[in-house]
Amino acid sequence: MKQVRLIIVGFGTVGQGLAELLLTQRAVLQDQHALDIRLVGVANARHGFIYREDGLNIATVLTLAKERKPLTEHPDVQHWGTVLEGIQAADYDVMAEATLTNLRDAEPGLSYIRAALSKKAHVVTANKGPMALAAYELLTLAQQHGVQLRFEATVMAGTPVISTAREGMSGSRIQTMRGILNGTTNYILSAMEAGRDYAEVLTEAQAKGYAEADPTADVEGYDVMAKVLILAATVFGQPLQPAQVARTGITGVTRTHVLQAQQANQRIKLIAALNREGDHLKASIAPVALPLSDPLAHVEGTMNAITLHSDTLSAVTIIGPGAGRCETGQGLLADLIAVSRHQAK
Ligand code: HSE
Repeated sequence: MKQVRLIIVGFGTVGQGLAELLLTQRAVLQDQHALDIRLVGVANARHGFIYREDGLNIATVLTLAKERKPLTEHPDVQHWGTVLEGIQAADYDVMAEATLTNLRDAEPGLSYIRAALSKKAHVVTANKGPMALAAYELLTLAQQHGVQLRFEATVMAGTPVISTAREGMSGSRIQTMRGILNGTTNYILSAMEAGRDYAEVLTEAQAKGYAEADPTADVEGYDVMAKVLILAATVFGQPLQPAQVARTGITGVTRTHVLQAQQANQRIKLIAALNREGDHLKASIAPVALPLSDPLAHVEGTMNAITLHSDTLSAVTIIGPGAGRCETGQGLLADLIAVSRHQAK
């Protein structure tokens, strides 16, 4: 059994989702992967960084976080007041980073990832900001230090898009991408077709942990933009700036638009697209009325979908959950297993 020492930085919906999976999937990790994942550190912005060399009690940490109590109430822990101090000082093999996405400067996640990679720890992240704004820098840093940086959970939660495109389809040149990449807006659009009120549905999406902390990121298309930037840099190999993505969200979509589309046998979906045009990569995000003959028209609720067209495989379509606590935690878990497999000790 290989022992892997893990820290989770950012202990909100997604960080807790991963911790829960460490409990529920323990037998799978041990029996199928011969991995004993030991959670040695947990950090959040409110309470700093707690660490215990022989492993924290995951159930205790989860209870404290859910009851919004200081994590330091966990018995026998070392405590660093700032998260960055803990990342730099603690002893661990892998950092799972799940702090809030910030698309202005990607902080604090960007500094946390740099710090962990620089001390030769592997990093798995669900945070879209650092990968959207600094993928090249971070992947280069990981390479320089001989460790891995994986980010499956940043696009379509745990549905394996990144690994499929980067590893499963390696050797194939991906020409175009078209997809539904935001669960909250797809959920809202589906509910509007059923006659439900926009604000009520948005509140429900927040309560269920689908929406971003600031749901403007969902409904104005910024969350999709982050995913488009990640795919552009890491799948198409052509980093784009946010200003290069033509972006329209769903706030201008009314119940009348939805009904008119329905009457014309169409459904409105928030569609993200990337197309290689010569040496350029063209990116757009906009609500589109799709005919029912389009498979993307049938993607319901918080499900996401992506179609990748490549020179050797024509079209590969992946449909699966795009948001949610356990679904996003699953993306981190798969990456954690992948990096652990390559870890020497
Ligand atoms: N708020 C995002 C969504 C979460 O609704 O898709 C996953 O990135």
